[in-house]
Amino acid sequence: MALLEVKDIKKKFDNTEVLKGIDLSLEKGEVLSIIGSSGSGKTTLLRCLNFLELADHGTITVDNKLIYDGDDPSFRDDKLIRKNRLNFGLVFQQFNLFPQYSVRDNLTLAAMLTASAEEKKDKKKLKDKLNDQADELLKRIGLYEKKDNYPCELSGGQQQRVAIARALMLTPDILCFDEPTSALDPELTKEVLKVIKDLKNSNNTMIVVTHEMDFAKNVSDKIIFMSGGRIEEYGTPSEIFDNPKSPVLRSFLNNALES
Ligand SMILES: Nc1ncnc2c1ncn2[C@@H]1O[C@H](COP(=O)(O)OP(=O)(O)OP(=O)(O)O)[C@@H](O)[C@H]1O
Ligand SMILES: [Mg+2]
Repeated sequence: MALLEVKDIKKKFDNTEVLKGIDLSLEKGEVLSIIGSSGSGKTTLLRCLNFLELADHGTITVDNKLIYDGDDPSFRDDKLIRKNRLNFGLVFQQFNLFPQYSVRDNLTLAAMLTASAEEKKDKKKLKDKLNDQADELLKRIGLYEKKDNYPCELSGGQQQRVAIARALMLTPDILCFDEPTSALDPELTKEVLKVIKDLKNSNNTMIVVTHEMDFAKNVSDKIIFMSGGRIEEYGTPSEIFDNPKSPVLRSFLNNALES
């Protein structure tokens, strides 16, 4: 059984259907890249998986457990949504770090808030434990020496790596990235993509919306090409890049590889 099963996700804004029935499944440790032109619904799909938007229809199942059914209002309960959201981590294009907190506090803050009532009883013990976890992750991404710095004192690539570490603090089952490198220049892009590659090597399950065709080709197990709110084509990197079937995908790839 797949770690993530998504079935027939539909989402409308006003009267426009932006997602028209998305199905996908992902095994533990797999990387799925989502490519597609602007406005095709990639961000909306990630937002529906992270419950920043609630899909109008469709189901999301993680590790055999149904965590969302768009047709069942009981899944819209705020408390349940907050709990189920923890299955997913999301890293945005624009890092979104808290500017007023140090790098290390950026990592521990959300984990402090989501700790159990039992753990919150001893604040000092909890903080020490989370600081240790944060330091461990900062070492992994090569930024331990920046732990007391503020986000504005870091390069864009460093900020994005901190944002990735922050998402990992909550140990999500599936880590989602929305164009994590599109605000970065090529040198910084490389260091962020390396962190994502390392995460794959340590068996993290990830969904990456990306414009980096080389990354999609080399790191993904599966690729989805979205067009007009649907999955136009779905396959392995070699099926998508070496043998694209749909004319829309062919034309997208021609444009992407030219630029
Ligand atoms: N909150 C919203 N309200 C109304 N329309 C929205 C909203 N969010 C997205 N849309 C519309 O949904 C469509 C898909 O948007 P989405 O951001 O998912 O595209 P995308 O594939 O991520 O594009 P890009 O590559 O530019 O990031 C667009 O037409 C957009 O205008
Ligand atoms: Mg987008």
